[in-house]
Amino acid sequence: MKNITLLGATGSIGKSTLSVVDQHSDKFNIFALSANTNWQPMVDLCHKYQPKYAVMMDQDAASQLQNALDNDTQVLSGEQALCEIASHEQTDYVMAAIVGATGMSSALAAAKAGKRIMLANKESLVLAGDIFMDAVKNSGAELIPVDSEHSAIFQCLQSGRSGLTKIQLTASGGPFLHTAINELQSVTPDEACAHPNWNMGRKISVDSATMMNKGLEVIEAFYLFALKPDQIDVVMHPQSIVHSSVYYEDGSTLSQLGNPDMRSVISYAMSYPERISSGVEALDLASNSPLEFYTPDFDKFACLGLAFDALKQGGSAMGTINAANEVAVDAFLNHQIKFLEIPNIIEQTLTQAKHTTLSSLDAIIANDRQARVIALELVDRHV
Ligand SMILES: NC(=O)c1ccc[n+]([C@@H]2O[C@H](COP(=O)([O-])OP(=O)(O)OC[C@H]3O[C@@H](n4cnc5c(N)ncnc54)[C@H](OP(=O)(O)O)[C@@H]3O)[C@@H](O)[C@H]2O)c1
Repeated sequence: MKNITLLGATGSIGKSTLSVVDQHSDKFNIFALSANTNWQPMVDLCHKYQPKYAVMMDQDAASQLQNALDNDTQVLSGEQALCEIASHEQTDYVMAAIVGATGMSSALAAAKAGKRIMLANKESLVLAGDIFMDAVKNSGAELIPVDSEHSAIFQCLQSGRSGLTKIQLTASGGPFLHTAINELQSVTPDEACAHPNWNMGRKISVDSATMMNKGLEVIEAFYLFALKPDQIDVVMHPQSIVHSSVYYEDGSTLSQLGNPDMRSVISYAMSYPERISSGVEALDLASNSPLEFYTPDFDKFACLGLAFDALKQGGSAMGTINAANEVAVDAFLNHQIKFLEIPNIIEQTLTQAKHTTLSSLDAIIANDRQARVIALELVDRHV
């Protein structure tokens, strides 16, 4: 029986994780759960799973949860408590599924404590890739990606990386793949969140629509698989059936395919190196044909190019674009800026922010704060 700490239990990845746990209650036990403010669904989750700990990031939400519970679950609040449940000696596996830079500290705590980290929070690697990978190496932690593209590469690499020339991440193009750039100016948050294939949280849905999600994934892949930037390629694939590919010098390409449902990826991270059922139907290739592939349009999806630029710059640039993107996406979701202003704000933040090498967590956090201040000022000027 493996004890799981589930960070981000009320989110899209959190719910899919619980669905896999429900199917294998003989193998997995929920040890701890966390959320931000959403305490009402946490009441039901705590009654159902009886975790030892429930952590709300928000203190008021923690009080509400505590008052609503009549079981032995200990309710805690704040970032330190998140780190404690992520590194607790009774925890075996940590699902890091908090959205945004705020998920970094708890994922890093799990890495330092030598846990199996099932990493959905790509921001941990975008912000602190070197520190995170060092922590994994030094502690003997297991790092299993929970992004369909990176899981695909991870699965392909099970046969080794001899002769590897490049990897290719697939990108659906989100809801605006075939929308003309001039029509993007007036799109609404709900239209941007209406992803054709994946059911995800609102922030990552907007990132998919701008393709910043793919940009962040490029950076994530750089750290996860120790590649050079020019070994990472992106191809548009609207059906989201081919999850990603690895190219070899003998002309071979290995790809991983499946229906677009995160339960496959999550169950693999939980059962690795074995495989268990996930509730996802087997792929029917004939009914999904033809599978299409296109070269990305870097003019329309400017965020993708900005992420590649940041990766090549290195140092603080990656954290800067991530912070600016979080601010800009939040402003777009709150109807403060237009969709096409998202890349403008990121680009201007990158230009204005001080570019440095970042060797400590404090420096990473300071850079994140500085970039947010710049991006917020830019949002205010756009309003
Ligand atoms: N969804 C997908 O299919 C998918 C695929 C690959 C990777 N990912 C990555 O997985 C992560 C989670 O994505 P998601 O789509 O599951 O997001 P989501 O549905 O928005 O859920 C986010 C979770 O994080 C919690 N949270 C939000 N802000 C927080 C804060 N400041 N402190 C602590 N907890 C906080 C939320 O709690 P409340 O409910 O209380 O707000 C919720 O439990 C992201 O990094 C995303 O890029 C997602």
